[in-house]
Amino acid sequence: MSSGAVQALRDILRAFHHGDNGPIPDDEYDRLIAGDEVNRILRETEYTPPKRGGPGFREPDSPLFASKHKEEISCMTKIDHDFQGAHIIHGDLLHVLPTFPDQLFGGIITDPPYASGAADQNTKQRSTAMKYTSAKEDNRLPDFEGDAKDQRSWTRWMREWLTEARRVCVPGAPICMFIDWRQLPSMTDALQWAGWIWRGVLAWDKTNSRPQKGRFRQQAEFVVWGSNGHMPADRKAPVLPGVFRQSMPSGSKRRHQTEKPLEVMREMVHIVEPGGIILDPFAGAGTTVEAARLEGYPAVGIELSAHYAGVSRKRVTGADTPPTEADHARS
Ligand SMILES: C[S@@+](CC[C@H](N)C(=O)[O-])C[C@H]1O[C@@H](n2cnc3c(N)ncnc32)[C@H](O)[C@@H]1O
Repeated sequence: MSSGAVQALRDILRAFHHGDNGPIPDDEYDRLIAGDEVNRILRETEYTPPKRGGPGFREPDSPLFASKHKEEISCMTKIDHDFQGAHIIHGDLLHVLPTFPDQLFGGIITDPPYASGAADQNTKQRSTAMKYTSAKEDNRLPDFEGDAKDQRSWTRWMREWLTEARRVCVPGAPICMFIDWRQLPSMTDALQWAGWIWRGVLAWDKTNSRPQKGRFRQQAEFVVWGSNGHMPADRKAPVLPGVFRQSMPSGSKRRHQTEKPLEVMREMVHIVEPGGIILDPFAGAGTTVEAARLEGYPAVGIELSAHYAGVSRKRVTGADTPPTEADHARS
């Protein structure tokens, strides 16, 4: 047995025996390590999760398991495997996702709140307008939801919805999620923790950013992508770029503080096989759902903020007036 393993076993035994009869001297540990005693202790310390409904099982303290919400929302949504068109659901994704049947969606393309925008927690808890926009107060778009979590809570929360999101996707479905450099490692952890296969990172070159003397510009954001298990090579999807170069919508063209460019989203949605329903559980101003609609995919968006649920619903049903050439010239 290697000296590292002996030390590890000593530590386990020390943790178990200390307190009963006081610390055990090292030679006593070595005697125990050599015998069956250690196997017994290791067997007893092995963790087997309790079976659902069996002894020791506790329902997770999570809205995912709140059946009341499931009933309410399933009446509202009526999204099933025959769904066509574009639809926005106003609600919390943790309440809405459990109402969908298994394997409903062909893929997820989304842009969660990054809960980033600063290095320290106090600054992170400022309004999203202060963190992500430079607009003067009078011209600010409304704040959006869910952006003040610390990194640990954010990662757990990501893992929670990503687990349910996997259930509602077909096997092999792709997932693409926008993120910044600070939260990139947490996002790839959460994705894999929820059982998805992590397949890579795309770069979105925003083309402009604040210059910082003596530093690199933070000119790019990223798209973590993966799949719900094995992804066959003969999927009906084209070759897609690994870098997208497009500035953010600005001025009067912008409907949301962190809106993504429609051109980028129109290209990205083609990772989903034709006919697959695209889900964006963080719809914001509805850019993904609108891109999917324009490219001929059925799509569903979920949005927690009442304001942005309204904005995106108007947009994807064609009730919103698109920005004009004059708007483009002004911005
Ligand atoms: C980064 S924005 C998405 C912007 C979008 N890609 C666009 O182009 O407009 C994230 C959105 O997720 C919404 N959100 C946050 N927490 C949510 C939750 N628990 N359920 C559903 N939507 C949520 C926020 O209100 C916000 O509008």
